[in-house]
Amino acid sequence: METNFLIIGSGAAGLTLAVKLAAKFPKKKITVVTKAHVSESNTKYAQGGVAAVFDLKKDSFQKHIDDTLRAGDGLCDEAVVEMVITEGPERLRELMEWGAKFDTDANGQLTLGREGGHSKFRVIHHKDTTGNEIERTLLERSNKLQNITMLPHHFAIDLITEHHFLEEKNENLSCYGAYVLDQISGNIFTIKADCTTLASGGMGQVYGHTTNPTVATGDGIAMAYRATARIQNMEFIQFHPTALYDGKNQSSFLISEAVRGFGAFLRNKIGERFMFNYDARGELASRDIVSRAIDSEMKNSGDDCVYLDCTHLNIDDFKKHFPNIYETCLQRNKNIAKDWIPVVPASHYLCGGVVVDVDGRTSLQNLFACGECSYTGLHGANRLASNSLLEALVYADRIFKYLCKHQPWQTTKDIPEWNDAGTVLLKDVEILQQKTVQLQSLMRRFAGVVRNNKDLKKASIQLEMLYFEAEALYQKHKLNTSLSELRNMVNVAHLIIQQSLIRKENRGGYFNEDYNKESVENIVNDKI
Ligand code: FAD
Ligand code: SIN
Repeated sequence: METNFLIIGSGAAGLTLAVKLAAKFPKKKITVVTKAHVSESNTKYAQGGVAAVFDLKKDSFQKHIDDTLRAGDGLCDEAVVEMVITEGPERLRELMEWGAKFDTDANGQLTLGREGGHSKFRVIHHKDTTGNEIERTLLERSNKLQNITMLPHHFAIDLITEHHFLEEKNENLSCYGAYVLDQISGNIFTIKADCTTLASGGMGQVYGHTTNPTVATGDGIAMAYRATARIQNMEFIQFHPTALYDGKNQSSFLISEAVRGFGAFLRNKIGERFMFNYDARGELASRDIVSRAIDSEMKNSGDDCVYLDCTHLNIDDFKKHFPNIYETCLQRNKNIAKDWIPVVPASHYLCGGVVVDVDGRTSLQNLFACGECSYTGLHGANRLASNSLLEALVYADRIFKYLCKHQPWQTTKDIPEWNDAGTVLLKDVEILQQKTVQLQSLMRRFAGVVRNNKDLKKASIQLEMLYFEAEALYQKHKLNTSLSELRNMVNVAHLIIQQSLIRKENRGGYFNEDYNKESVENIVNDKI
């Protein structure tokens, strides 16, 4: 199959780019491959909202920039921060024009929420289901555009580069599309594209305990890594402090940070409001600090969780703002009006990813990336809450604008079809589940909220064995989704561990108990 624009992923980033390209180039073909139902994505589950400056009397771009830079702890690209924050409101107005409804007051003014690390109320939202509203709007719009071909239940396996058809080594690689698995028929086919964009989202599933849905297995990052694109800042995993704890080993329901912005308290089992022992901002400290504080409370007490106390809040107002959280807790036998909600930190967001420039270009020709799979320089060492959807919207627009000026039409290459001759069907399907669980528990134990070099090295050794096992399965068997995901998650875990070992300091969301922020001497002596 041939297309002009191939987009991998149908969350906020991928769909925004698709609808813009489709409207601008009605004669060109836009193909979106997405590995589950079209709406399944991290975007769909976003709760708190999108941070953007709309109230210029009480807030300013500079304040949003300062908060973003503070969270990013010296590693943000300041020009990128300024660009995203100043372009953000325009992208949101565009979404509203396309039909997205955000909460407003009686005068029709946007109501603004506040989350950890923000000095002002600036988070625009649709109750506590903002992501679902954005996804709905973008899908409705893309359904109206004839030149978008949406391929749900199609899994991108690998990017096509010169590696696939040139004998000699080539330094300046280009991307020519992707090999894609039709998850229903099991067939693998080639999509040749003039231009390919990764919008494949995050990797929370690498840790198992995560706020992310099951699709978040870091596929785009692993594909880009295998295609030799630059990948950076993978050590900066953001753990959300308040995922609902229900004692089970599965994706957890998120209790939005906006609930703490609304006035909820964090308490330990004996009722102490412990956050002020860690940070003067209490419950509204940035989320790495809150996650580490909870981790420390749990380790000191031996308890499995801490609690979010909303019992002092006006429950009618609460229900109005957070109907989804209220109902979901009730379904799990927790009445927010009366009960403290058990919560734990869970893997939530990847601050690093495939390195892109201000136009979303990766280090490979004709390969772009936007949204959570990319590293733009906006978040640096830690992402400020609700800056992620903003980044996805702004970068999809940046890529669109670049492509309007520099059209990428390439001469078609003679690309070989996917060759799986000699491979057989994998009969022992349980082995993939076992290896995945093994990987996830390894990452939680040795590369979680608080790390140390000894554990990271242990993780690296154990991961190498898993890598060889996954590769052996891949070489011998016909590819399926679980096998590809396992292989991708092993690649992503490798990047997290290796880049963690390289970082010789504590910074932003990265915390290694072998380093004090101030003392850098022990760093030089510790060879990896
Ligand atoms: P996604 O929305 O994750 O979309 C990725 C797409 O790629 C999916 O369609 C997926 O199926 C597809 N895909 C992946 N791999 C493949 C493959 N191999 N082949 C084909 N398709 C593939 N951010 C905020 O700014 N504000 C919030 O309030 C907020 N709340 C959040 C709450 C939760 C519970 C979660 C999980 C995240 C939240 N975030 C929030 C983060 C934010 O939602 C994400 O970072 C953002 O939505 C990412 O958008 P995206 O388009 O890059 O990726
Ligand atoms: C939340 O609602 O707490 C999540 C916000 C975010 O991840 O930006």
